[in-house]
Amino acid sequence: MYVDELDAGRVTRTSKRRSSGFAFSLLVAACVPREQPADSSSAGNTVLVTAPPEPPKAFAAMPVQPATGPHAPTDQNPFAGARFYLDPDYAKKVDGTLAKKPDNADSVKKVKNHPTALWIDTIARVAQVPIWLEDAAKQTKAAGKPTVPVFVVYDLPNRDCSAKASAGELTLENGGEARYRTEFIDKIAEHFANHPSQRIVAILEPDSLPNLATNLGVDKCSISEQVYRNSIAYAVSKLSLPNVFLYLDAAHAGWLGWDSNRQKIANIFKEVLTAAGGPDRVRGFATNVSNFNILHGDDGKKLEPSNPCPDEITYAQKLSESLAAIGMPNKGFIIDTSRNGRGGIRSKWGNWCNIRGAGLGERPRAAPEAPLDAYFWVKPPGDSDGTADSRAARFDANCASDNASPGAPEAGQWFEPYFLELVKNANPPL
Ligand code: BGC
Repeated sequence: MYVDELDAGRVTRTSKRRSSGFAFSLLVAACVPREQPADSSSAGNTVLVTAPPEPPKAFAAMPVQPATGPHAPTDQNPFAGARFYLDPDYAKKVDGTLAKKPDNADSVKKVKNHPTALWIDTIARVAQVPIWLEDAAKQTKAAGKPTVPVFVVYDLPNRDCSAKASAGELTLENGGEARYRTEFIDKIAEHFANHPSQRIVAILEPDSLPNLATNLGVDKCSISEQVYRNSIAYAVSKLSLPNVFLYLDAAHAGWLGWDSNRQKIANIFKEVLTAAGGPDRVRGFATNVSNFNILHGDDGKKLEPSNPCPDEITYAQKLSESLAAIGMPNKGFIIDTSRNGRGGIRSKWGNWCNIRGAGLGERPRAAPEAPLDAYFWVKPPGDSDGTADSRAARFDANCASDNASPGAPEAGQWFEPYFLELVKNANPPL
């Protein structure tokens, strides 16, 4: 999961290509000209010449049909009057740790009773969706109250374009754009539609549209821009069903807090949602996903004094205003509070990987303060952000920063010592 470590408000590694006519256009990606050795047949006299630039690689961004069917109510907080779904697999991970490390057992046990998001991060994982939904129905029955599962839909082609730790299975070269639609989004939509009385929340593609706001200077992002936009518009158009409340990922204060960045992301959201069938297709936005920003306080002021959003609540409020100003009022926000209990733990706001000294944050709950729909543990606390092994293909230098915990496994894998540290540092305490 990437956090732009630039002073993103002032300098933006921006795009030459903005959004004009994106919904139906072809993406023509500019290839960076490379220096190539001359033909070795000029033997004995080898010189390096600059080869003419290769013709740009064209990635056709498939068109998107705006949705016209019914969608979930836009004026309803889906968490109101409901309980959160508890993931039994998360409880198993915690139990595994408890069995090995019985110290602090009382606190550790309490973590099991807190909900965490269900990440659909590969095509293979889609098979788990009906199992989760059936289990949610059982929990509803047992509790006598609607139970809401929170999914994270996370398998975009060329995923994690400005970082490495969460690079995904689908690429533009391997037909990822079409597979994302037919093997991933369409299948998830079918499962959601098969459970029409189940209230569902889904957060779409963390970091993706934010990368288009500030990181188009990174080749993998710029060549993916149109495919990202159309794939997310497609996901929204298919997943916005009467029982499904969608939230787009909106990065966090330390990335998009600056006025110019908020403006950019608000415009991108509007364009993508227009292509998907309109802003009413989503209930709102999720922020701080897998990040560490505190809810209230001056942490951010010390790290980036020019950022008008020193903390995550201020960011949600100001983003809500930026969105309202361009015709998207009254959106709800989810803030990921899984690991933001303690501030003052980073030397740079741009550090995002397995930050040492972090603690569990506020427990998930509905409508804690405006404009929030919920605090929620989107990143399951204890799951790694990325491997610390510098030889691994997905090694990202951020996972060896001066703030990163050593010894971390691959993104998504259980990182036991880190989990125990989060529990020890929980704030509020468990
Ligand atoms: C990983 C996913 C994982 C998620 C939740 C992401 O960083 O890339 O594979 O499911 O974190 O832990």
